[in-house]
Amino acid sequence: MPTNRVSQLGYLGIDVRDVPAWQRFAANVLGLQSKGTDPDGTLFLRMDENHHRFALHPGGRDDLAYVGWETKDADSLRAIAERLESQGVAITWGTTAEAQVRRVVGLIRLQDPSGIATEVYFGPLVEFERPFHSPRAIGGFETGDLGLGHIVVSVDDYEASLRFYCDGLGLKLSDFIEIEMGSAGNTMIAFLHCGPRHHSIAIGQFRAPKRLHHVMLQLRDMDDIGTTHDLCQDQLVPITSSLGRHTNDHMVSFYMQTPSGFQVEYGFGGRLIDDAVWAVQLHHAPSIWGHRAPRATPLAEQIDTV
Ligand SMILES: [Fe+2]
Repeated sequence: MPTNRVSQLGYLGIDVRDVPAWQRFAANVLGLQSKGTDPDGTLFLRMDENHHRFALHPGGRDDLAYVGWETKDADSLRAIAERLESQGVAITWGTTAEAQVRRVVGLIRLQDPSGIATEVYFGPLVEFERPFHSPRAIGGFETGDLGLGHIVVSVDDYEASLRFYCDGLGLKLSDFIEIEMGSAGNTMIAFLHCGPRHHSIAIGQFRAPKRLHHVMLQLRDMDDIGTTHDLCQDQLVPITSSLGRHTNDHMVSFYMQTPSGFQVEYGFGGRLIDDAVWAVQLHHAPSIWGHRAPRATPLAEQIDTV
């Protein structure tokens, strides 16, 4: 196990077609705070004391643009860069100007085995003097050392990706969910952690329209899950997966569709990992209960409303 590792999922860059739609969605539904825009139109969104956790870049892909992994200091960053290079991964050191754009002290750029732009950095800009204020009446997000949440991505080569994230970046296996995919056979999803959060990334070699399947935001208050679920129904934000509790991280959550087509999981109460006692597990179901796909309105209800 590498001694110098990434410590949290720190920021995400997302390429979005409709920045104004995202600005409304982020503020009015997710409860994220706008942190203004850069001259190139990049919209920053924050969810805690960090300058930002999301950078939305105007573009045409509506998908993940890059993933930012935090490590603790310059020595750790150098050690991670040297290890990745020894494994044949091409590294580019970010310039001072590039670090300023990301609001970090230093960073390296590379690609994961699927070509997902990946950055490892240290020294994020933290603004305790500008406390986070959600535009919605919610109790805030579980972040800090746990990072921004988690992402689930589709990869081209499952084994190569597992080696990259574990042996290269230094994440550890939490567990696997083996999912039946009909005629495509079974697919294994690997859940990886780099701190106490159960997983910061999950990877699977499944067919998907986008790299980013979903990003999970964890709330501090269960009632915020309920009120946001109500809000989605009132505002006709598509709920893509009903309330449920996951088998592996025990998160109670539901999923909604974003203006970019991928999903946001809005969750509460995920269990944490203590590496001293955690043992890798296998699951055959993603959920203990719930997380159902939307169903068509039953005929009886359609008749009632005629
Ligand atoms: Fe999730």
